[in-house]
Amino acid sequence: MTVKIENPIFEKLGMKYPIMEGGMTWAGTGALAAAISEAGGLGFIGTGYWHGDDVRHEIRRAKSLTDKPFGVNVMLMSRHIREVFDVIIEEGVRVVATGAGDPSPFLEELHEAGIIVIPVVPSVGLARMMEKKGVDAVVAEGMESGGHIGMLTTMALVPQVVDAVDIPVIAAGGIGDGRGAAAAFMLGASGVQMGTRFLTATESEIHDNFKKAVLKARDIDTIVTGNLLGNRARVLKNKMAKAFVKNEVNELQKPKPDAAAIEKLESGTLRAAVQQGDKDGGAFMAGQISGLIHDEKSAAQILEDVWSQAADLMGVEWPAKD
Ligand SMILES: Cc1cc2nc3c(=O)[nH]c(=O)nc-3n(C[C@H](O)[C@H](O)[C@H](O)COP(=O)(O)O)c2cc1C
Repeated sequence: MTVKIENPIFEKLGMKYPIMEGGMTWAGTGALAAAISEAGGLGFIGTGYWHGDDVRHEIRRAKSLTDKPFGVNVMLMSRHIREVFDVIIEEGVRVVATGAGDPSPFLEELHEAGIIVIPVVPSVGLARMMEKKGVDAVVAEGMESGGHIGMLTTMALVPQVVDAVDIPVIAAGGIGDGRGAAAAFMLGASGVQMGTRFLTATESEIHDNFKKAVLKARDIDTIVTGNLLGNRARVLKNKMAKAFVKNEVNELQKPKPDAAAIEKLESGTLRAAVQQGDKDGGAFMAGQISGLIHDEKSAAQILEDVWSQAADLMGVEWPAKD
């Protein structure tokens, strides 16, 4: 049996590679998204808890750099989500990826505007629920990933989601080269998503301290914060991350643990890492695959290297020929 990669969404978007950028708050700027889309992948602008105007600014920046489609990743929990969707629709964005919630209340209007909706899911149950609600594809994201994570590994999660739904499944978490991408396709994925690998792209605008930390990191250099309080995030180990975990443990010893007080410790730390390169106080979100990444390359080179190695290993072409 040979692998055949079918992904009508990626084909419709005219992508040269079946590879997308994971949305990354603060780190996933319009310039990086544009570079990835321009090179034939699908770039995403990460918007976190931004206001609509900030999202519009970054979308326009991407549009000034590429005519190719790109996506916007939104946090459904954001207080500004209504205005963010208004901006996305007004600006004619083609794809939306969603995290932290259920996109179904917005699905009809997004589809009416011709927008493809792809939620990120950490489990089979959520993937099934999303398919029932009518989303176009899902990203199955394993806990090897940088940033906020679920409990399952990519290796275990992806084939189970592939068996559970009929829509395209894009695999994320721990993919940094063509071997990882090929493995994901062998598990049944019809696309791959990378975050950490693109953090180190030449066009990535993260602070040099952040980029260097990812390039220098070893396999064992990430840690998961928020484990005990239910908001898990994978970051590179530093003073902030270790103190956070220690505080969590201390808090849980108390008769009435105050989750909100602990969460507050994280507030603003990703921005501090991305924009100020704050070595001690920043949350350097990055995945376990950091240990595999030692060089800074252009987004175009990353896409070409990952895809050519994966295609060679699998003996496939993209788009698939009959
Ligand atoms: C710095 C950083 C910020 C991230 N922010 C978001 C986000 O805002 N929304 C989201 O859905 N995923 C976010 N992620 C997860 C990525 O979209 C992606 O799924 C993940 O990085 C894939 O795993 P990898 O890092 O092993 O490639 C973030 C990841 C990183 C490294």
